[in-house]
Amino acid sequence: MTAITETPACPAGTVAALAPVLPVVGHDTPAPLVDGRRVPYANLDVAASAPALQSVADAITRTLPLYASVHRGAGYLSQVSTSLYETARRSIGEFVGARDDDVTLVVRNTTDALNLLAGCVPASDDGTPGRVLVLDVEHHANLLPWQRSADATVVVGRATAAATVTALRDELAAARAAGRPYALLAVTGASNVTGESLPLDDLVATAHAAGARILVDGAQLVPHRRVSLAATGIDYLAFSGHKTYAPFGAGALVGRRDWLDAGTPYLAGGGAVRSVRTDHTDWHDGPARHEAGSPNVLGAVALAAACETLAGIDPVALREHEDALRRRLVDGLGEIDGVQVVQLWADAADAVGVVTFAVAGYEPGQVAAYLSAEHGIGVRDGRFCAHPLLARLGYGAGAVRSSVGVGTSGEEVERLVEAVAALVADGPRARYDVVDGLWIVVDDPRPVPEGSGLDGLLATAGPGGDEVFGCLPEGA
Ligand code: ALA
Repeated sequence: MTAITETPACPAGTVAALAPVLPVVGHDTPAPLVDGRRVPYANLDVAASAPALQSVADAITRTLPLYASVHRGAGYLSQVSTSLYETARRSIGEFVGARDDDVTLVVRNTTDALNLLAGCVPASDDGTPGRVLVLDVEHHANLLPWQRSADATVVVGRATAAATVTALRDELAAARAAGRPYALLAVTGASNVTGESLPLDDLVATAHAAGARILVDGAQLVPHRRVSLAATGIDYLAFSGHKTYAPFGAGALVGRRDWLDAGTPYLAGGGAVRSVRTDHTDWHDGPARHEAGSPNVLGAVALAAACETLAGIDPVALREHEDALRRRLVDGLGEIDGVQVVQLWADAADAVGVVTFAVAGYEPGQVAAYLSAEHGIGVRDGRFCAHPLLARLGYGAGAVRSSVGVGTSGEEVERLVEAVAALVADGPRARYDVVDGLWIVVDDPRPVPEGSGLDGLLATAGPGGDEVFGCLPEGA
C-alpha cells in the first residue's frame, strides 16, 4: 500500500500546462469579476456537481428525438426508449463490474441509493432492525439513512487509516462474538472532505470475515477511479450521475440481488407491481421493484454515456492527471502562511482530487466569495454535509473545499493557489459583508449571464448550501 504522503512535492508552475483529459461542457464559460473583467470560469467544485462531459451532452441530443414513455407503451418510440433505458442500465452495471446476478438500479443519486438500501437491510435474528456499522467520516448520505431505518453504530475514525480499519475490525468481531452481528459495513470509497480512501480490499475482507456485507459510497470514487464489484467483492456500490459528469438526474445502486428482492419496495407506485387488488399487492422483484413511476430514461442514457466515455480512457492517465492537480493543491496551499490543508490519514490508501483547507483570519464563506468575485473560481465552503467529521477535526465553523476532475486544467489549479496566496499577502480588494448568514460582495456589480433569463442571482454560496440558502439583494 502506497501512502499518499510519499508522492514527490509539486512546486509552483509544474502543472500550469496540463490540459483537461476530456472535454466538458462549459469549460470556457466566462465569469464576470468585480473589477469588470471576465475570465473563464474555473470550476473547482466538481466534488459537489461535475460539469457534463461533451459525450454526455451529445448522447442527450441524439436521444431527445427518440424519447417517449418507458416500459409503458407499444408505440415505436416507446420501444426505442425502453431499449435505450435497459441498455443504459446494462452499461452502468458493466462499468462497475457488476456480477451476473447483481441488480443495477437507476436511482436519483447516491443519497437516494443509500436510502433505498437502508430499507433492504435484513432484520437481525431476534427481529430487531439489522445492524449497520459506519464511521464518523461519512457524508450525511451514508449516515442518516442507516440511523433512520436500521440500527446504526458509528465508530469514530482514528488518526491513521490502519488504526481505523482495526477499530472497524474489532467492532465487527466483538459484535459477532456477542451474538449481535452486523449485517452491513457502510463506508465511503473516498472522503468528500479530503478525497482520502481507506484500503477497500482490507475493508471487504474485514466485513466478510465477520459475516457482514459491505456497501461502498462511491460518490467521490467512481468518477475518478475504476471500481469493480466482481474484482473487489464489494457487495453494494452507490454513485451519482451528477458527480460522474452526467448531471441529468440519475445515479445508481448496484449489488447483490437477494436483499434487494426481499426489501421494502422503495417507491410504491406504478411499474413496481405485478398486480394490485384493493386488498393485496404483488410486488415485482428485480429493478422494477424499486423503480416505481416513469423511469428517467434521459438520466440513465446520460450516466451510461459518461460510464462508457470514462471506461474508454486510460485509467493510469486519468489518475496521473488528477494526482498531479491534487499534489499541486496540497503542496501549493500548504506552503502559504496561515493555510491549513485538512488531512484524515497520513497513511491513506489513495486520495482523489478533493482538497479542503482553511485560511487563518478569514471565514470560509469569505474566502469562497473572494475566489469567485475576484478570480472567477468556484469552490464549496461550509461543513460539506459531514458535520461530525468537521467537528472532530476542529473545523466546526467549516472550511473551503477545492476539487478537480477530468475537465480541470492545470491553469485553474495554479489560479487557485495564486489567489489564496494573494489573499493572505494583500487581503481582498472588494468589500465583503455577511447578509443573512451569507458572505456577499458589497454593491456587487457582476451581471447575470446574458440569455439566462435571470433578473438576479439566488445565493447558494456561504456555509455550504447544507446550512444556508439565501437570496442576494435584487439586482446584485
Ligand atoms: N455531496 C456533495 C458534496 O460533497 C454535494 O459536495
